[in-house]
Amino acid sequence: MIVFVTRQIPEAGTALLKEAGHEVRVYPKGEIISREELLEGVKGVDAVLAMLTEKIDAELLDAAGAQLKIVADYAVGYDNVDLEAARSRGVAITNTPDVLTATVAEYTFALVLALSHRVVQGDRFFRAGTYKGWEPMLLLGNDIQGKTLGIVGLGRIGMQLAQYAAGSFGMNVRYYDVRRNEEFERDCGARFHATLEELMPHADYVSIHVPLNPSTRHIINAVRLKLMKRSAYLINTSRGPVVDEAALVAALTDGTIRGAALDVFEHEPTPTPGLTALENVIVTPHIASATEETRAKMAELAARNIIEVLAGRPAPNAVQ
Ligand code: GLV
Ligand code: GLV
Repeated sequence: MIVFVTRQIPEAGTALLKEAGHEVRVYPKGEIISREELLEGVKGVDAVLAMLTEKIDAELLDAAGAQLKIVADYAVGYDNVDLEAARSRGVAITNTPDVLTATVAEYTFALVLALSHRVVQGDRFFRAGTYKGWEPMLLLGNDIQGKTLGIVGLGRIGMQLAQYAAGSFGMNVRYYDVRRNEEFERDCGARFHATLEELMPHADYVSIHVPLNPSTRHIINAVRLKLMKRSAYLINTSRGPVVDEAALVAALTDGTIRGAALDVFEHEPTPTPGLTALENVIVTPHIASATEETRAKMAELAARNIIEVLAGRPAPNAVQ
């Protein structure tokens, strides 16, 4: 059968598909596929291995044709997919959970540490030729030990981050989620808050780990940013639109909060005007899961889902 892969991915994935006897068509250009090329490329294929940069909607599913059996999203977040359109056409949708949990949690923790200890600012300072020798008051940051990490969304990644934070780093953990998890609270000594309004004032660091959907869009807005401590930091490695980015720029500019680290943006790849001019923000290009190990595992997992579905078996990572 025919599998269309919308972007070059690690060989581990395409090799599995070929071993299973499928014809693999990989979009050859090293850039995000245009909508026109995507609609053309999916025509007549049995499976699509798609990136989070592609909108998987009714138009695309119809352009592929009735033989399409699965779209395997090369991501854990599948907000790029119209699930209802897929369900009504009998197309399986899968994602790549678990294999990237530790990687994204590690990256998030790297941002917590980098913000607190001003690692990126220090690098910028040094490269600018401004360093004149050791100074007692140069680039003072904050310790994270004994501070409170507020986790918004206690899924796999939020939970893993909590373990890192509460473990050797000695942070206190509080969390907000639509579901309470008492076992986790016992394991991490964590405290639950039933609303964000309750959580925000307690946290020295707020880290977001929710999926993007209508109920989480702009979950961090001007009103909620004002509830944070002026000394607090915001970290987002989930999806950009969960934060009202214009409100965040305002809050960082007027000192409502101390700093932020963002790996995702409301209108990727373009930052809200003013954001990148701020000294108290770290911006990185959506790379939280970008390790050689994890990207290879994501490729394998997406390929395995396709192989199963094309063999008439259930998808191991079906999202609905
Ligand atoms: C990346 O953002 C993912 O959802 O895997
Ligand atoms: C810093 O370099 C120290 O030795 O304390």
